[in-house]
Amino acid sequence: MVHETFESDSDGDTTVSSPSTDIAEPDIKVILVTGGAGFIGSHVADHLLSRGDRVVIVDELNDYYDTRLKFANLKYLEEKHGSGKYVFYKGDICDVALLTIPIFSCNNQGTNS
Ligand SMILES: NC(=O)c1ccc[n+]([C@@H]2O[C@H](COP(=O)([O-])OP(=O)(O)OC[C@H]3O[C@@H](n4cnc5c(N)ncnc54)[C@H](O)[C@@H]3O)[C@@H](O)[C@H]2O)c1
Repeated sequence: MVHETFESDSDGDTTVSSPSTDIAEPDIKVILVTGGAGFIGSHVADHLLSRGDRVVIVDELNDYYDTRLKFANLKYLEEKHGSGKYVFYKGDICDVALLTIPIFSCNNQGTNS
């Protein structure tokens, strides 16, 4: 897993805690899963990774319930599918600035659109 912490400051500027990693490859779908650290999202991500897709997970890791369960979900994905198959961004999908980071400008052919 590539873990990226997305944050935007009060000015709306974006920061990412680690270098952006491109998981896109020709002929392999890259699919965005929002809430992917949660119950349904992590199962969807597991299914997509099992069929060979790459996955971008965005989850704010809110504390509606014990966040250790969410970290456990992400760890399970990493242990089952290995690193480099998906990228995780901690962030709020409602934050429009999040959608400006490079990985969201890739299309299904893995090229910037
Ligand atoms: N689990 C079920 O049986 C079930 C059944 C019917 C409907 N649903 C609905 O499906 C959805 C997902 O359910 P779940 O059980 O996986 O819940 P969950 O709480 O386990 O997962 C939701 C995830 O979304 C993340 N999240 C919430 N708002 C976010 C935001 N703005 N940006 C980024 N991440 C955000 C949370 O941190 C959480 O990890 C919910 O809306 C739920 O009401 C669930």
